[in-house]
Amino acid sequence: MLNVVVMVSGGGTNLEAIIKAIDSGKIKNARISCVISNNKGAFALERAKNHGIDSFCISPKDYSNRSSFNQALVSKLDELAPDLIVLAGFLVVIPEELISHFENRIINIHPSLIPSFCGKGFYGLKVHEGVLARGVKVTGATVHFVDSGTDTGPIILQKPVLVKDDDTPEVLQRRVMEEAEWQILPEAIDLIASGRVKVEGGRVRIL
Ligand code: GAR
Repeated sequence: MLNVVVMVSGGGTNLEAIIKAIDSGKIKNARISCVISNNKGAFALERAKNHGIDSFCISPKDYSNRSSFNQALVSKLDELAPDLIVLAGFLVVIPEELISHFENRIINIHPSLIPSFCGKGFYGLKVHEGVLARGVKVTGATVHFVDSGTDTGPIILQKPVLVKDDDTPEVLQRRVMEEAEWQILPEAIDLIASGRVKVEGGRVRIL
């Protein structure tokens, strides 16, 4: 059984989609052992509690500098010893030490078709604002492994979503979640739990 830790910062709708997929059997052979948030007020923590899942907040605000915050994060994850770490709207830079320790065992959901609208400064609503400002007709979501760059790791799954003329960033964000994120994130976890995801030469092959 894959031991999964989910890391969150906000609403936690992707966390909810993962929990539902485990409960309904869409994700097999995986359990969420813990949810970690960097933000005490994250509604995602409530969602974890409502489902009886252990949760912790490790906030940079409680540490005097970034390196002690990073150390607290690394210690907690070492203790939990997850097989897979899922960044489900975790909007904090992941410490280098964690990335090397959990190589190809950290995945992230990003709300665009990487390599468009990703990298530094593109997160949450900002991604959809960028999409609308550029006037692209198709956007979507991507699940990828986390490497030391920002949104540069091997791509596992992508799903396109059409942009409409009258979209606002909020409306588009919701449609990308509903039509893409909540589907491909659970699907990627199921593929990993069933041993079907191989990384070869920086690219993912689904077996
Ligand atoms: C999601 O849209 C996710 O793709 C995005 O944050 C949102 C979290 O929503 N992540 C990023 O932008 C990462 N670069 P949620 O808390 O409701 O799952």
